[in-house]
Amino acid sequence: MNTKSSAEVQLEQELVEWIEQDSLYQVILSSPKSKNEELTAKKIIVRPVQLKQGLYYQFESYYANKVLHENVSPADTAEKLMQLMINQYKQTNIKQKHCQLHILTNKKGQLTIKRKEVEQVKEIAPRTHNRQKHRLLEEGKPIAFLVELGIMTADGKVHAKKQDKFKQINRFLEMVEDVVDALPNDRTIKIIDFGCGKSYLTFALYHYLTIERNRSVDIIGLDLKQDVIAFCNSLAQKLQYDQLKFIVGDIADFNELSEADMVVTLHACDTATDAAISKAVTWGAAVIMSVPCCQHELFPQVKSELLAPLLTQGLLKERFSALATDGMRGQLLEVIGYKVQMLEFIDPEHTPKNLMIRAVRPKALTFNQSKWEQYHAFKSLIGVEHTLEKLLDEELLKNR
Ligand SMILES: C[S@@+](CC[C@H](N)C(=O)[O-])C[C@H]1O[C@@H](n2cnc3c(N)ncnc32)[C@H](O)[C@@H]1O
Repeated sequence: MNTKSSAEVQLEQELVEWIEQDSLYQVILSSPKSKNEELTAKKIIVRPVQLKQGLYYQFESYYANKVLHENVSPADTAEKLMQLMINQYKQTNIKQKHCQLHILTNKKGQLTIKRKEVEQVKEIAPRTHNRQKHRLLEEGKPIAFLVELGIMTADGKVHAKKQDKFKQINRFLEMVEDVVDALPNDRTIKIIDFGCGKSYLTFALYHYLTIERNRSVDIIGLDLKQDVIAFCNSLAQKLQYDQLKFIVGDIADFNELSEADMVVTLHACDTATDAAISKAVTWGAAVIMSVPCCQHELFPQVKSELLAPLLTQGLLKERFSALATDGMRGQLLEVIGYKVQMLEFIDPEHTPKNLMIRAVRPKALTFNQSKWEQYHAFKSLIGVEHTLEKLLDEELLKNR
């Protein structure tokens, strides 16, 4: 049994007190002991977060290609911090109201603590979960396309029933903002939105890039539905969004472009997402943003003795199949050389939360052999064929 050193006991007590007094502002854990970037976050930032149920502590973990958030109750935070500090990270920096600690952990888990008393560390305000601070489109300021789409009143107030949609649009734009630098800035940016539907997000993208970011764009929205496309074209005209056009068509048959800088596909059903992603790769898109839905392809195929606990109940099998579908999509993009992140996307109309695959193309693509081997190992474990792999056949061969 490990006994705690007096330094550990004192530090844990202090953490508990600071948490009780709301005076713990920030903890950063860095230099992980493990080099396995898939399993151990490179860095964890811990800070207070204001939730409906009160003040919690958010652990924001930065992995090689994803960021995960966990909200921990005040009662559990000190113990969790101590465990991470002793067992997993070599460096910890703590900011409290009156002092800053710099802690080094050696191989045996022993702590060396350097303490600096300060008059008062500048308070870091707790994060709030309504993300108001981050909103790119603000309530109270009328925005033409939001007014026309019935989300805002003419004086800029968001209709009560459209609050979720407004949040979703803002969340989408935040996700665009993060990758905007990957898009060309010396010419018109070519964008296609596959399965655009009523196009709230397509209009939002146009507004954000042209009006908020002063970029020149050429955006096409494509959808199967004629009436929806007619509506979107008339709205684009009314708003004088001259570089925004909508076309009726099927993603799989769309051959009007030979290149694109950004491909968006939000909730295009089942393998329509694969058609969109494969076109994006073929056209050399710098940014791909895809929120898949209705992932039916793997469900009837998937089989594995090893994974039986996940596959015998229909509901679990359905969820597993959807995750496997998207995991394999992300992995194939990584095999080709894209940098991929899986993000949480709010979707008020379909399910409460959804997954976005966001992929950014580096300047030069490098075929990733080990990801390719992992992909195959997983594929044979669950005994499936994947549409995206077939559609990307040539690209995979070309880059290998
Ligand atoms: C659920 S809606 C999503 C609309 C919009 N992208 C959004 O996220 O708000 C899915 C849209 O994809 C379109 N769609 C589905 N399969 C398609 C395909 N193969 N080609 C073109 N559009 C497709 C449908 O007509 C529908 O309008």
